[in-house]
Amino acid sequence: MAGKTDMAKFAKFCKDTGFIFQSSEIYGGINGFWDYGPLGVELKKNIKDAWWQDMVRNPPPGPDGQEIRMVGLDCSIIMNPQVWVASGHVGGFSDPMVDCKKCHGRFRADHVPQLQCLLRPSKAPGQHDECQLSDAREFNLMFQTNVGAVVDSSSVAYLRPETAQGIFVNYRNVLNSTRLKLPFGIAQIGKSFRNEVTPRNFTFRSREFEQMEIEFFCNPSESMKWYEYWRDLRKKWYSTLGIQSSNLIPREQGKEELAFYSLGTTDIEYMFPFSDEPQELEGVAHRGSYDLEAHAKASGKVDDLAYFDEELWNNDSQTMSTRSFKEWLKSNPSEAEIAKYKFVPHVIEPSAGADRFTLAVLMEAYTEEELTDAKGQKDTRIVMKFHPRLAPIKAAIFPLVNKDGMPEVALKLYRELKPYFNVFYDDKGAVGRRYRRQDEIGTPFCITIDGDSVKDGTVTIRDRDSMQQRRIALGDVRNEIANLLMPSAS
Ligand code: GAP
Repeated sequence: MAGKTDMAKFAKFCKDTGFIFQSSEIYGGINGFWDYGPLGVELKKNIKDAWWQDMVRNPPPGPDGQEIRMVGLDCSIIMNPQVWVASGHVGGFSDPMVDCKKCHGRFRADHVPQLQCLLRPSKAPGQHDECQLSDAREFNLMFQTNVGAVVDSSSVAYLRPETAQGIFVNYRNVLNSTRLKLPFGIAQIGKSFRNEVTPRNFTFRSREFEQMEIEFFCNPSESMKWYEYWRDLRKKWYSTLGIQSSNLIPREQGKEELAFYSLGTTDIEYMFPFSDEPQELEGVAHRGSYDLEAHAKASGKVDDLAYFDEELWNNDSQTMSTRSFKEWLKSNPSEAEIAKYKFVPHVIEPSAGADRFTLAVLMEAYTEEELTDAKGQKDTRIVMKFHPRLAPIKAAIFPLVNKDGMPEVALKLYRELKPYFNVFYDDKGAVGRRYRRQDEIGTPFCITIDGDSVKDGTVTIRDRDSMQQRRIALGDVRNEIANLLMPSAS
């Protein structure tokens, strides 16, 4: 999709095709909440599956060619509220906002110049004569609820604003249950909730969204190496799924932007067509030992904090007189010697938004092509150029006409492919129209059964982007699709 986009037109396209609907639309909707339609749910699932497969089950080798150890978690959305006190979210997870006493609108103070006054939408809040804006004050973004039958301050709980804290508070459980050794990563995909003051740009800033987060625990002495590894890997991952490199901009945060505990953060930004500036798709942050220390102190479980790198000690122990690590610890080694083997791990956090990436994929894929047919008639083809791994439907199967044995062969092929891929059977209308319907929803391949198929067992396979057709054997169709769905190395 090129140039500045009319988001209303794009949202209508997403609604008409079944990618994304406004939540509770029949009641006028609810600002900042969205539903994924039949195609959208497949697209987002493919995105989450690709992330899980490429980051958790089969991550590429580490900076020194080593295997990467990754495991997953699925934590509850509501946790003990102490989690959010210790993490700093109760005290500090807020945006500055201003209220208008006239229209009762609430606006994010730093977004005011780009927002619309509710009484006079052609002006920004504060510019209309009747506006009465308050001073800016901090507004906590966490949604509150009460757990149990009693509604008072003792039952207050929060919907999680990020999935990351569930990982930190389970660090010791994962270590004990898996016997993983550093370095290793814990991944989680799940819903997060933020009461954003100004949700906007379609799903870009929503109040309910899904995150795909990794906390990668490592030895502090190696943490910069792992930070660089994740920063580069995460940017590359988007390109392997069809995002043009020129639309991806990694932005290293300046010293003044960094959280006090962070040794570096890179935002991977994407040139969303609704904005002149690139916007954050994912943050890759070096969080040091901040979170583990904060939870150990707040929970009193300080013994959970230290990591004893016995593996590293064992490698070095040939030169030592003691036989066990515990014995060695008791033998009064110096602070500096201990620090080499006993430390609080540092954490690298690649934190991506599943909905934001889904929006980027939709906008990147949307293409309008001017075509001229054999008679010189001009036409516009809308084609969603999804990477085949992400496409909601992988192949559509058509009998050319509904007679002469073609539907039987086509249905047999459809039933053979269905256990392996999300495929679609369509026998309605002219075949050209059927191709267009599939182009518009991004189906990479259309397979047509014609008169020759019945005689010689071959079919035509049409490529969505080039519109070229080839004849292949019926028996090769499954492999042909499978090959095109393999993760690409580049
Ligand atoms: N644990 C770190 C963390 O949550 P973040 O930068 O606040 O960091 C990470 O969020 C990612 O989550 C963002 O890069 C974005 O993709 C997604 N995200 C955050 N807020 C969002 C919102 N209101 N709507 C949609 N996605 C959001």
